[in-house]
Amino acid sequence: MMPSAITRFFSRPISMLLTLFLVGGAVFPVYSQKIIIPVYSKSNALILQVEDSKDLNMAYFGEKLSDENEYKNISRVYRPAEDYSSMLASAYTASGTRNLAEPAISVTHADGNNGLHLLYESHKQEKIDENVSLTTIVLKDPVYPFWVTLYYKAYVNEDVIEQWSSIRHKEKKSVTLGKFASANLLMRGSAYWLRQYHGDWAREMQPEESRLTHGIKVLDSKLGTRANLFQPPLFMVSLDKPATEDEGKVLFASLSWTGNFRVDLEVDHQDNLRIIAGVSNFASAYSLKPGEEFSTPAFLYTLSNSGKGLASRNLHDWARNYKLVDGKGTRLTLLNNWEATYFDFNESKLSALLKDTKKLGVDLFLLDDGWFANKYPRNDDHAGLGDWQENKQKLPNGISYLVKEADANGVKFGIWIEPEMVNPKSELYEKHPDWVIRQPGRDEHYFRNQLVLDLSNPKVQDFVFGIVDGLLSKNPELAYIKWDCNAVIYNAHSSYLQNQSHLYIEYVRGLYKVLQRIRAKYASIPMMLCSGGGGRVDYGALQYFTEYWPSDNTDPLERIFMQWEYSYFFPAIASANHVTDWGKQPVKFRTDVAMMGKLGFDIVISKLDPKDLTFCQQAVKTYDSVKDIIWQGDQYRLTNPLTDDVASVFYLDKAKSAGVIFNYLVNNRYGAGSAVPIRLKGLDPSKKYRLEEINLYPGTRSALNPGTIYTSDFLMKIGFNPAVKSGRNSVVVKITEVR
Ligand code: DGJ
Repeated sequence: MMPSAITRFFSRPISMLLTLFLVGGAVFPVYSQKIIIPVYSKSNALILQVEDSKDLNMAYFGEKLSDENEYKNISRVYRPAEDYSSMLASAYTASGTRNLAEPAISVTHADGNNGLHLLYESHKQEKIDENVSLTTIVLKDPVYPFWVTLYYKAYVNEDVIEQWSSIRHKEKKSVTLGKFASANLLMRGSAYWLRQYHGDWAREMQPEESRLTHGIKVLDSKLGTRANLFQPPLFMVSLDKPATEDEGKVLFASLSWTGNFRVDLEVDHQDNLRIIAGVSNFASAYSLKPGEEFSTPAFLYTLSNSGKGLASRNLHDWARNYKLVDGKGTRLTLLNNWEATYFDFNESKLSALLKDTKKLGVDLFLLDDGWFANKYPRNDDHAGLGDWQENKQKLPNGISYLVKEADANGVKFGIWIEPEMVNPKSELYEKHPDWVIRQPGRDEHYFRNQLVLDLSNPKVQDFVFGIVDGLLSKNPELAYIKWDCNAVIYNAHSSYLQNQSHLYIEYVRGLYKVLQRIRAKYASIPMMLCSGGGGRVDYGALQYFTEYWPSDNTDPLERIFMQWEYSYFFPAIASANHVTDWGKQPVKFRTDVAMMGKLGFDIVISKLDPKDLTFCQQAVKTYDSVKDIIWQGDQYRLTNPLTDDVASVFYLDKAKSAGVIFNYLVNNRYGAGSAVPIRLKGLDPSKKYRLEEINLYPGTRSALNPGTIYTSDFLMKIGFNPAVKSGRNSVVVKITEVR
């Protein structure tokens, strides 16, 4: 029996159940008073169970059962826990008492004692709206006045859960939290495969997939600001066998936090996978006052029973519906001047670029780094950061003039800032050395010649907010902000904070306070989250941004792979992709790849070959005609660049009546190309379709016949052939329903 609508969100005690328990061959009657707390989403059930001892366990996370009465039987089919390991299934493992596995939380109480045991106290389940439920469970230590509340927010249709915790106490003095995870999951499978990512500047989102062995694998970052530079908090775990695009059980997960994180993946001696995720406790022991509440960020996850593709589509829907600023809205195409000019520009050069913006046909001109600072002009990356006044030599009439000039050209104007940072060679540094994160008495150590401002300090928060507020209140027509962040935190020390162990956490909280203030005043201005490439891409930050910059590496061949991996976690509408001069591919290839997201350009338009210019102008118009499908549609990965000669990615609108298929040659070996047809996915079985090649380079002809009408049956069982090969290495196909 499927759970009824009424019981879907609410749990029931299974009172005084007479069960027969088989122990050592004898049958004993056991009376138990278990409370089952189910967290349901469309396909899955996460079952929490209060044991007779009041311990809260995670009994199950997987596909829903047809009869919800059977959840109570789940714990009986697993090996009974021996005493020393009886906490393995704990929904939030404490430390210092009976649990000897990796804990989710550790604490030193006010009296110096390190023991914590958490028992169920109460719970409630509420329906926030038709699609979202919130389950709250309060746990308490039986000896100390110390509570942890667990929160499970279920987004039913998207099959996504956000889980976080809050910690509070009423002890006589402060307690010290040694670990403070957001969530503690227990997964059960016969084996587990982890897909994790690593990277560096221009090499973001490099995947590695391997079987998890017994013991603990830690994914973490200690970089502070650009936390994701070497390792993002994004990962997936396949259960039983490696999931493919369309088959297998796979969990996608990430921490919504724009700073140090830590994920422990422990395969224990009973072959469970325990996932403990939260803010990193590295150098961050947290002193919590009586009555104060420590709230963790959300750990978000989605479990797919039909492969990685479905998990990613669920995350895309969730991100557009609930996280991204204006996720269901539109975006601006743009021309950026970073690689076209670097720091070398002036008003007349920019005026010409505004005309080029119009000529190209995009919506907005984005002025990048180098427009500010006077005492120490920002003519390279050694000086000026922090002094956010227009450079009088380069821009004698200021930003306002350029904004007006843009308007006169019929385009919008956007601007780059890096407000969290300072060059030692700046007036800001001279005036406020105490606003800078650095160790007193030690030599400063720079990352890109700069230091990080101490955002734990409210005065610094005001300053950073003031940069954005100043620009936008002086220039209300300013239409876009690129927010950069190019340095990690070295020499972590704040001259504002009393407790230095709080710095990494208070930094991120300070950043969020600023972003909240910006969004409270400027709710809809598009903002790009950039961090010297993709050094900072996470859903904690993305709730304040419309898009992110995946990498400074815009070589389209590299981008096919990188965007492929990013796209598992983030929808195309959030991926800012620019056509640049990186790579050896022709402009058509570069543009096609950039179209698989939010299209922009960063090339010198005036130096384009006339045919290339015509192509780009036409491509902007073509993009305008299909961008809604790419931004709001469902993404299907058809053939994989890691295993096939051709990478093929398909975006299909929700009505299943129009789609775009991007196909690229990713192998240069002799004869490589689309030798076999590529099968489509997701089409409406009752519909017929026509295929037409779009975004052709001037003077070239399509290899596809737009006159042929296909059934969806044919396209999904046999497929189509984009005829990708050397000399035709990038092919974009539009598919349209034939009525
Ligand atoms: C790093 C960014 O990733 C680039 O796009 C550019 O904005 C530079 N910073 C500017 O300094």
